[in-house]
Amino acid sequence: MKRHRQNVVRACLTVLTGLIVGCSAVLTSSVTYADLPEVGDPARGEAIYRDGANGTVTPCTGCHVENSAGAPALIGVNYAEVAQSRVEGQTAREYTFHAIVAPASYIVAGYGNAMPEYYGARLSAQDLADVIAYLLSVP
Ligand code: HEC
Repeated sequence: MKRHRQNVVRACLTVLTGLIVGCSAVLTSSVTYADLPEVGDPARGEAIYRDGANGTVTPCTGCHVENSAGAPALIGVNYAEVAQSRVEGQTAREYTFHAIVAPASYIVAGYGNAMPEYYGARLSAQDLADVIAYLLSVP
């Protein structure tokens, strides 16, 4: 009887794990770093950063503004240098890609895990390349 109950618990856990993995798969980026177009358009990236993309995502400026306690400033902070220094072995561009499509993979000290996980699923590879080009181009 005891064993039966353990088996039921185990079966439930397996189903639950499957659900969690399945749900996160929906949110995970469909774009990998290798898929990023080599050239990004900073002007187009700025527009996405400021206004979002056809109402499908919260604009980055919804959180990333100067002197916000909720999210680190990205503009006016020489972000390219910041990004280059974040994770050993990752270029600034690579780090920024991961910071956008999988924010929980690196949490900037002093901030919470508050950035939406959906950008990789809702922005196109070109959108991402453009936003990254913009962030790395502004002083
Ligand atoms: C709901 C608020 C919110 C929105 C919207 C948001 N972010 Fe963030 N972002 C955060 C927070 C909070 C952090 C710090 C925690 C972390 O590292 O994930 C962060 C971290 C980052 C970092 C790492 C910065 C560093 O100094 O290393 C980058 C890059 C970034 N966001 C880019 C973006 C871009 C690009 C967008 C829009 C496509 C965006 N974020 C939208 C809240 C947000």
